[in-house]
Amino acid sequence: MSEVVSYNREGAVGVITVSYPPVNALSHAVRSGLLAALEQGQSDDNAKALLLVCDGRTFVAGADIREFGKPMQEPGLAEVVAAFENSPKPVVAGIHGTALGGGLELALGCHYRVAVEGAKVGLPEVKLGLLPGAGGTQRLPRLTGAQKALEMITTGDFVDAGEALQLGVVDAVDAGNDAKVIGMKFAEKVISESLPPRRVRDVTERIEADKGSDVFSQFRAGLEKKARGLFSPFKCVDAVEAAFNLPFDEGMKRERELFMECMQSPQRAGLVHTFFAEREVSKVPGLPKDTPVREVNSVGIIGAGTMGGGIAMNFANVGIPVYLLEVKQEALDKGIAIIRRNYENTAKKGRITSAQVAERMALIKPTLAYEDFGDVDLVIEAVFENMDVKKQIFGQLDKVCKQGAILASNTSTLDIDEIASATRRPEDVVGMHFFSPANVMKLLENVRGSKTSDEVKASVMAIAKRIRKVGVLVGNCYGFVGNRMLHQRGAEAVALVNEGASPQQVDKVLTDLGFPMGQFAMSDLAGIDVGYRIREERRKAGEDVAPSWMDKLAEQGRLGQKTQAGVYKYEEGSRKPVVDPEVDELIAEFRREQGIQPRDISDQEILERCMYVMVNEGAKILEEGVAARALDIDITWIYGYGFPAYRGGVMFWADQVGVKTIYDTVKNFEKTLGGAQWKPSALLEKLAGEGKKFGDL
Ligand code: 3HC
Repeated sequence: MSEVVSYNREGAVGVITVSYPPVNALSHAVRSGLLAALEQGQSDDNAKALLLVCDGRTFVAGADIREFGKPMQEPGLAEVVAAFENSPKPVVAGIHGTALGGGLELALGCHYRVAVEGAKVGLPEVKLGLLPGAGGTQRLPRLTGAQKALEMITTGDFVDAGEALQLGVVDAVDAGNDAKVIGMKFAEKVISESLPPRRVRDVTERIEADKGSDVFSQFRAGLEKKARGLFSPFKCVDAVEAAFNLPFDEGMKRERELFMECMQSPQRAGLVHTFFAEREVSKVPGLPKDTPVREVNSVGIIGAGTMGGGIAMNFANVGIPVYLLEVKQEALDKGIAIIRRNYENTAKKGRITSAQVAERMALIKPTLAYEDFGDVDLVIEAVFENMDVKKQIFGQLDKVCKQGAILASNTSTLDIDEIASATRRPEDVVGMHFFSPANVMKLLENVRGSKTSDEVKASVMAIAKRIRKVGVLVGNCYGFVGNRMLHQRGAEAVALVNEGASPQQVDKVLTDLGFPMGQFAMSDLAGIDVGYRIREERRKAGEDVAPSWMDKLAEQGRLGQKTQAGVYKYEEGSRKPVVDPEVDELIAEFRREQGIQPRDISDQEILERCMYVMVNEGAKILEEGVAARALDIDITWIYGYGFPAYRGGVMFWADQVGVKTIYDTVKNFEKTLGGAQWKPSALLEKLAGEGKKFGDL
């Protein structure tokens, strides 16, 4: 008997139970165990019907993703599903938790499906760069028709048991919370009413109804926009269409071919890497799993500007009360009004109700008095980037906050240790760097100071989860992980424009790679004054920061989207960047002043300089231990800056390009362009020399 799948008979029902924590994924052992248990059920003369259920938190949540990319071991999942479907005895699936991917495909191979209330079903393979490869694209449309099957398969979104019932994906939903109990009840009904095995492959009405309709061409046209740059959503449509044009067995063959194309695509590798990296990132090396976590039930935020307001919304969204502090009443009123407007806009789109708007607004309490922070569990400072101001604030917090409160700064560049030095409790001080817009972007870059306690580190990682963000714990240095790399890319992008590229050419290379926006469109969004102020601070500190045409923009009041003019210009009420000849002239003038003769620059040079400079910096970040693992950098870039998840993050992308190729080019740039940013990191050099990847570290 298999260790992960068991067979027992209860009365006239043969019960097959999968027990493979954490999510009963269809590993090789589970697949062979399922076949063995099914055979046992067939040969058990006293079993009149079979029931398939799972132990633990969920029904089968899919194929075992850890087996992808390795040689396939028989039996394949499609074969297992077919064996269930062809069983002469009726088989019922009892679903709880999430029946996903191969899990739902297995359930679709059963003759009846019953789900507990609250269970969810879905085919999320597309999120891993795949398509359902065990009959999902052929069986689901036979139950739901083309439109809904296309929606479910190309988005990967789950539907709950209630909707699954309406769609015909499950046959019954039962309020009981035990899948085995409700499954037994259904199986007994199958026996008492002599219900026959009912194979989904034989259901044809919906297929006939949608045959020849233009739903597929329409769907493809819609995807061109929604799935830009992605490979597998289009293959999903091809596979579903096959269910309508081909007999079942041929449709299955077509599905397999398309599945294999996806399996071999680099996007699948990138998305699977992202899936695991997102989960690994919360397991911080050196921070024991059982580190105590401080409870956070109230928060104080300093600064009601764009960042502070966005941060406050994150807490209100999950029911945590927030004091929002400003120095002046006017700024406070303005900040609160913007939050209200944001919530109301969300309500207009139907994503929250007006009652929820009221509830969330009631949780955000405006204040001008630091004394209100006396009892809060966490304070996040979100004022502009000025060390003196921040130190003064932390000195004040040290006086008013209770012992044990976590004192966090949302600084995006400044030294956490210096900020902490303004308090008598540096162990409670930490960075919590949110990304703009703070209520939307999923990344929370938590920055540990040299004295931050383990308890505070673990607590801010737990807070990230609670407010539905992905937390990455990083070390303290200028710009931490994200902005330190961005800073290098930004400087290189500006240099490329100095030398002859246009801002729009640079941006296009980056958006073609899959970034949602280019470097300069992003500067306009963040505000040209932000970078300007940082450069001015560094100049004041005596650093040699070269003059830039970006400074000229700031000095002319072209501050980006908020002034409808920055690197680009913007129509009233629009966020779409429009090329502005005035900026071309400003750049040309800058080149004349600097005595630069512009040259033609290729897209490949832009790509290499913008990306390799980041990879080199990322390698230095790893070398210094600022990021513990390459995957921490990958997740930072995917969730903080929109680097396409299908490329797996900047360091994973570097591995795909080839570490040696990048090292050689960096060496060459060191010679031809010079500058500290092109000095190859020792780690990059070592990996290139050993023929290794960042993923091997
Ligand atoms: N294979 C292997 N491991 C898996 C897995 C899978 N399909 N799904 C989840 N896991 C692992 C996670 O890596 C994690 O491991 P860890 O504890 O070591 O970090 C653990 O299970 C728990 O996962 P989560 O932290 O994500 O737990 P949640 O409760 O938040 O979410 C879930 C559970 C909704 C099932 C979520 O894990 C999920 O969405 N999983 C992926 C589902 C999926 O994509 N299935 C389709 C697979 S492809 C397929 O089936 C191909 C077929 O068509 C041929």
